[in-house]
Amino acid sequence: TTSAHGRAPVGPAPENWAGPTPDPLTVPGRARRIGEPMPRLEGLAKVTGRIRFAAEYAYPDMVYAALACSTIPKGRITALDVTEAGRAPGVVLVMTHENAPRLNPMPGFGTDPKAGGFDQLPVMQDDRVHWNGQPIAVVLAETQEQADHAATLVRATYAPEPAVTSWDRAVANGTAHASIYGGPGRHELGDAEAALRAAAVSVDEVYRTPYHNHAAIEPHAATVRWDGDELIVHDTTQMVVHSAWSLAKIFGIAEEQVHITAPYLGGGFGGKGLWWYQVLAAAASRLAGRPVRIALTRENVFRMVGSRAMTEQRVAIGATADGRFEAIIHTGASATSRSVDLAEPFILPTQCTYAARTFKLGVEVAYLDMMANTSMRAPGGAVGNFALECAIDELAVKLGMDPIELRIRNEPREEPLDGRPLSARNLVQAWRAGAERFGWDRRNPTPGAVRDGEWLVGMGCAAATHPYVRSPGAAARIILHRDGRAEVEVAAHDMGMGTATAQTQVIADRLGLEPHQVTFRFGDSRLPGLVMAGGSQQTAAVGAAVAAAHRELLARLLKLVGDGSPLTGLEPDQVGSLDGGLAALDDPSRHESYSDILDRAGRDLVVAEAVAPPPEEMTTLSMHSFGAMFAEVRVSSVTGEVRVTRFLGSMDCGRIVNPRTAASQFRGGIIMGLGLALTEELVLDPRTGRVVNASLADYHIPVHLDVPEIDLIWTDIPDPHAPMGARGIGEIGITGTGAAIANAVYNATGKRIRDLPITPEKLL
Ligand code: MOS
Repeated sequence: TTSAHGRAPVGPAPENWAGPTPDPLTVPGRARRIGEPMPRLEGLAKVTGRIRFAAEYAYPDMVYAALACSTIPKGRITALDVTEAGRAPGVVLVMTHENAPRLNPMPGFGTDPKAGGFDQLPVMQDDRVHWNGQPIAVVLAETQEQADHAATLVRATYAPEPAVTSWDRAVANGTAHASIYGGPGRHELGDAEAALRAAAVSVDEVYRTPYHNHAAIEPHAATVRWDGDELIVHDTTQMVVHSAWSLAKIFGIAEEQVHITAPYLGGGFGGKGLWWYQVLAAAASRLAGRPVRIALTRENVFRMVGSRAMTEQRVAIGATADGRFEAIIHTGASATSRSVDLAEPFILPTQCTYAARTFKLGVEVAYLDMMANTSMRAPGGAVGNFALECAIDELAVKLGMDPIELRIRNEPREEPLDGRPLSARNLVQAWRAGAERFGWDRRNPTPGAVRDGEWLVGMGCAAATHPYVRSPGAAARIILHRDGRAEVEVAAHDMGMGTATAQTQVIADRLGLEPHQVTFRFGDSRLPGLVMAGGSQQTAAVGAAVAAAHRELLARLLKLVGDGSPLTGLEPDQVGSLDGGLAALDDPSRHESYSDILDRAGRDLVVAEAVAPPPEEMTTLSMHSFGAMFAEVRVSSVTGEVRVTRFLGSMDCGRIVNPRTAASQFRGGIIMGLGLALTEELVLDPRTGRVVNASLADYHIPVHLDVPEIDLIWTDIPDPHAPMGARGIGEIGITGTGAAIANAVYNATGKRIRDLPITPEKLL
C-alpha cells in the first residue's frame, strides 16, 4: 500500500537505528540499566549544599556587580551622570557605553551552528535604548549591597522616541510573515477556508496567551574571571559551547580562550543562554582587572532575560457530521522585538496531531519595543496546543461526541501535511489506557451538572505533543582504563532533569559496565561536541554520540587484541560490549575483558572519540512525543477559584530510560502547564513597555498547595528510529495540560475561557 501522499509506508525498522554496526544492546545476557529507576547521582550532594551553582564560585579579589537600567522603552541616552555612584562607598568601577570596551554584537542564535546570542544587539556600545529595562550602567563594588546602592545613584536623561508597547498597537501597525527556525511559517493543503464554510459542523474561535517567563528557581548569574587573555565564566547555561564561541566573537578572541563551566543549573526551560549580563560582567571585569560576580535579581530576570511572547491565535475546524476533519485552520500572530525577530511557533502541534482533508496554518509576528523574546519550555507547543486542543473540545460539544473518540477518529496514518511515515506513534493506546485509569467513563458530559456544595466539578482532556529533536554535532569521548573504569566526556548539561544519571545508565549498558564503573563528565565548554540542552533532545543527542564513540572504541580495542585472544579475527561489526569486555555477537562465549585486552597490549587506557551521525531520522520520518492528559477540577461558584484535584499524564515517548527522573520531568512540565492554565502572566505596562512583575509574589508559579498528586503512565514502546528507542520527555508535560484544565473548567462550569490565564474574575 502507499499513502495518500504517494509514499510507501515505512517498513519494519532495523534493530540498530544508526548504522550497519549491530547494536551492542542486542547482545544477549548483558545487564539492563536502561529502564531502571536509578536515583540521581548528584541528589545527595545537591540537597546537602555541596554542589556549587554559578553565583557560588568565589575568588579572593572578587567584586560584585549591580545594574542600572533604562526607564524608557525607546530613545537615546542624552546624559548619564555617574559621579555620585562612583563616589559611593566600596565602588570600584562604573561602566557605561562611554567607557565600556569596544565589543562586537551578539552573534544571534541560528546565524551560525555555534551562535548563542539571544538578541543581536551591540551590548552597551552606544546611547540607544531598545527596551524598558535595558542595562545602561554596571556598577562594581566590594560588596553586593554597596553595588546595589550605588546603582540607584546613576542618573540618566533621555530623549525618548515613540515606542510600540501594547499588543493592540503592534497589531494595528501590521503583522509580518514569520519563519519557524529558518523554515516555513505557513502551510496550506487544499482550500481550507472553503472546506470550513462547507463543513456540516464547525468551530472558529480566537485564543489568547500572555507573556510568560521561565522563572527558574535559580535566577541567572555568572562568576567571571580573566586569566590574562583567557576568559573563564562560571555560568548557568543550557549551551556551554555556544556561549563560549559567542563570547569569543564578542570579545574578538579565539574560541579556545573562553572557558565556560555550567555543571548544574537550578532550572533552565529555554531561558538560560547568552544574555547581556555575562557580556557586561566580562567587560567590566576586564576594565576593573578583578573577578566579578553578577547575580540577577528576579526583577532583573523578568526585565532583561527574554520570555515567551504573547500570542493571539485563530483556530477553526470543520468536520463532517460524524466528526471527520474537513478543515483545520490555525493562524495568528505572536509578539517579538526587532532585536531578535523570533516567532512563537504555535502551529507546531497542529502540524502533527490530527489528519484533515485541508489545512491552513500560519504564524505572523507583531513588533513591540520590548525585551527580545525567546523559547520557553515547548516553544509554540505549549500555547499552540492550548488553542488547538480547546477547539477540539469545543467541536466535540457541537458534534455531541466524546472528545476522546473525536480525537481517535482523526488520528493520522502519516505526518498530516507532508506524508512522512510515522516512526512509532501509539497515542491511541495512550488515550485508551489513560481513559480507563482516570475513570473517564464517570465524566458527566453535561457542563455544570456535577456539584459538591459550592464547588462545581468537571473533567477535561487534551492531547500532548512535542517534536522529536536531535541536532547535529553531538560528540563523545570515551576514556577506557585498564581497571575497567570508563570516563565519558560530553559538553552536555544537567538543568535538574537527571542527564548525568540517565547517561550513566546508557553508557553502562553500551559498554557492558556497572554504573559505578562509569564517570560522566559534562557542563564544560572544553569537553567534546556541540550539544544544547534544548528541544528535549539531550538524551537522544548524547546517546547517539556515545554509541558512535563506542563503535570507535570497538575498532580500537580489536586493533589491540592481537593473536591468541578469543576475539582474534573478528571485525568491529561482529563484536559488542558485554560484561566488562568484548564478545562476538553470534557467540557471546567468545569474550575477553577490557582489562585482559589492555594488559596484553601493555596499555593503561584507550581513548575513542566520535561525532554522532547526522539526524536523518528527523527529516525523513514523522517523529514526535505524545501524551493523553486528563484533569479533574473543582471551581468555586462563590469565588471563581479553580483547584486542580486530579491529574493524569498517559505518555507515549518511546522507551523510558529512567522511570524516576522521567516521571519528575513529566510532573515538572505538568506543573508548569498548571501555571500556564491558571496563574502565570508577565504584565507589560502598555504605557511604558515596562514589565510590571518584579518578584515571584506577582508572577504566580504553582506552589505545592496548588499541585495535586500527578499520576503518570506510559506506553514504553521503544521508537525504532531514536537512539535507545527514546524520544524527548522534557517539554511535553507543559503541552496538553493547559487545554485539559481549560476543558475541565468548561465541563465544570459551562464557561469557555479562551484567554489565559483562567483567573477567578473570568469565571464569575
Ligand atoms: Mo527548551 S525551550 O528547548 O530549553
